Amino acid sequence: MNSDLCKRLGIEFPLFAFSHCRDVVAAVTNAGGMGVFGAAMMSPEELEEELSWIDAQVKGKPYGVDLIVPNKFEAKGEDLSDAEILAMVPEGHKDFASALLQQHGLEPGDLEPARADRLVFRKNISAEGARRSLDVAFSHPIALIANALGLPPQDMLERGKAQGVAVGALVGTAQHARAQVAAGVDVIIAAGGEAGGHTGEVSTMVLVPEVVQAIAGSGVPVLAAGGIATGGQMAAAMAMGAAGAWCGSVWLTTAEAETNP
Ligand SMILES: Cc1cc2nc3c(=O)[nH]c(=O)nc-3n(C[C@H](O)[C@H](O)[C@H](O)COP(=O)(O)O)c2cc1C
Repeated sequence: MNSDLCKRLGIEFPLFAFSHCRDVVAAVTNAGGMGVFGAAMMSPEELEEELSWIDAQVKGKPYGVDLIVPNKFEAKGEDLSDAEILAMVPEGHKDFASALLQQHGLEPGDLEPARADRLVFRKNISAEGARRSLDVAFSHPIALIANALGLPPQDMLERGKAQGVAVGALVGTAQHARAQVAAGVDVIIAAGGEAGGHTGEVSTMVLVPEVVQAIAGSGVPVLAAGGIATGGQMAAAMAMGAAGAWCGSVWLTTAEAETNP
C-alpha cells in the first residue's frame, strides 16, 4: 500500500477522500490518507475560511483541494446580472423541483435563495473567479490540487510545479487521460460511470485498466474512482494497476459529514 505516490505526497496509504465537508477532509488526512476538499461552489472568502480551519486540524499533514477551473473562458453571458440569470429559470423547472420535494415528503420552502446561492459557481468559473480561487488554494500548504473537468489551465500547472503541489485531473476515458498526461498533469483520477458527480459512462472495472495501459510508461499514477467503498474494492483497483483509490459517495454517510439525513 505504501506506494511511490504515498512517498511523494507524504501519506501512509493511498486512499483519497473527495468531500465538500471540511471535517471529512481533516479526519481522513489525520488518519493517514488524503482528504481533498471540494470547493467548486465556494466563494474565495469561504474557501479561505475552510482551508484555514483544515490547516489548524491537520497541523502540516497533507491534504488537497478540488476546483473546477476552465482551460479557457469564453465569457458567454458575462454581461448578465445575477437577477437576469435567475429570471431565465423556466417556471416549468421551478414547478418540477417543488413537486419533486413534496412527493418525497420534503418541505419545498423557498427555493429561490438556494438558486441564488448556486450562482457562486458561475463566478468561480469566470477567468477572474478561477484566479481568485487558485490564489486562495495556493496560499495554503496543500499537497494536491485537482481539476474536476477538462485540462487544467497552464497557470494551474505552472503554479503546481513552482510550489511542489501535485496537479490532478479527473478523466472518464483513456483519450482524456492521454491528453491530461500530454498537458503535464501529475496524477490521473480515472472516474468510472459509477462515480458520484459528473463522469463519462465507462465503468470503473473497464476504465481503470484501460487508462493505466493508455498512459503506461509516462510515470503518471492513476487513482481509481467510482463505486469504491471497501478495502476489497480498493485492493481490486490496485490489482488492476491503480496507485490508489479516490472515493466520494462513501464519505456522505460518515459521522463527520454534514449530509442531511
Ligand atoms: C455529492 C458529490 C459531489 C461531487 N462533486 C464533485 C466536484 O465538485 N468535483 C469533483 O472533482 N468531483 C466531484 N465528485 C466526484 C468525486 O470526486 C469522485 O470522483 C466520486 O465521488 C467517486 O465515486 P464514488 O462516489 O462512487 O466514490 C462528487 C461526488 C459526489 C458524491
